[in-house]
Amino acid sequence: MQAKARFTMLRRQLALATLLSFAIAFYMLFIIYSIRVKSPPPSSSNITTALTGAAPPRPRFSLLVGILTRADKYDRRHFLRLVYGIQSSPVADIEVKFVFCSLTKPEQRVLVSLEIMRFNDIIILNCSENMNSGKTYTYLSSLPRILPRRYDYVMKADDDVFLRLEPLARSLEPLPRLDFYYGFVIPCGSMNPFVEYMSGMGFLLSWDIIEWINQSSIPRNDTFGPEDKLVGRWLNLGKKAKNRFSNKPAMYDYPGTNGRCSHDLIPETVAVHKLKRWDQWLHVLTFFNVTKELLKSNLYSV
Ligand SMILES: *[C@@H]1O[C@H](CO)[C@@H](O)[C@H](O)[C@H]1NC(C)=O
Ligand SMILES: *[C@@H]1O[C@H](CO)[C@@H](O)[C@H](O)[C@H]1NC(C)=O
Ligand SMILES: *[C@@H]1O[C@H](CO)[C@@H](O)[C@H](O)[C@H]1NC(C)=O
Ligand SMILES: *[C@@H]1O[C@H](CO)[C@@H](O)[C@H](O)[C@H]1NC(C)=O
Ligand SMILES: *[C@@H]1O[C@H](CO)[C@@H](O)[C@H](O)[C@H]1NC(C)=O
Repeated sequence: MQAKARFTMLRRQLALATLLSFAIAFYMLFIIYSIRVKSPPPSSSNITTALTGAAPPRPRFSLLVGILTRADKYDRRHFLRLVYGIQSSPVADIEVKFVFCSLTKPEQRVLVSLEIMRFNDIIILNCSENMNSGKTYTYLSSLPRILPRRYDYVMKADDDVFLRLEPLARSLEPLPRLDFYYGFVIPCGSMNPFVEYMSGMGFLLSWDIIEWINQSSIPRNDTFGPEDKLVGRWLNLGKKAKNRFSNKPAMYDYPGTNGRCSHDLIPETVAVHKLKRWDQWLHVLTFFNVTKELLKSNLYSV
């Protein structure tokens, strides 16, 4: 009698255990199936995203921002290092470097060397300082030779532009990584990124275009003139940059400085250009709450 009861109980436990293992097996199968169906590249996904059905995040991309400036502008570099040193983005690895032509004065060799030793964020091109006679060509075409690595994107920016790296990276995240040209299209009133060219305030190219500029004779033959306009002409002549994106109204000139290229500061800003004076920089930094995250401390009161 007792033996029979024990036997029945054992059978029940066995049935329960079998059921449980089936359930676990089904659950595992379901998870594996969801991962395979919903997220093709397993490296960029995990089980949480598979189960919640959220789109798998794309891998982080890399961006080199080259700010074209002159060796003598020590104060500007100091300031821009502060402005960019406190910014970052969770979706991109962004490196900011200062770009200028060969040094010409003895004191530059000492002072710029100090900067390089401390910050390692300077590129000195083999050229003589110029606005519209080939510096941008030298910059873009030299990169494959002089950089230790490649980037997904390369940007050329002015030293009188304020870039907001997080909105910049967010705007790029869903966009193409190849055959790509991004910026603020000229003419100012236009919304068509194919019409002419992207303003020199800050335009961006994918790495395959940088390699093309390095190798093609189209840019090599056409280096004199307004640098931003030239880049647009090279790409059109070479039938390059089938993917283009003009980021308006997020990029613009500082209010009141340049007709239809200017408008008021707006929260979704990526770039504000033509910041020539301190009061303009202060206005912009204040508007975007750049110093709001300063921590409280007994060491200072600001
Ligand atoms: C899984 O993906 C989610 C959503 O993208 C993310 O927040 C989380 O950090 C990821 N976890 C791991 C361990 O990668
Ligand atoms: C710099 O450019 C000049 C003229 O284009 C060339 O003669 C010289 O060899 C270059 N120097 C270096 C270090 O590449
Ligand atoms: C293009 O890159 C190659 C290989 O890195 C280099 O030898 C060449 O000098 C570069 N061209 C220009 C115009 O800098
Ligand atoms: C570049 O210039 C050279 C010499 O003037 C010429 O032979 C060549 O055809 C030109 N290439 C292009 C793409 O215009
Ligand atoms: C700056 O902070 C103020 C106050 O917290 C807020 O109202 C405003 O929207 C912020 N501006 C931007 C551009 O985020």
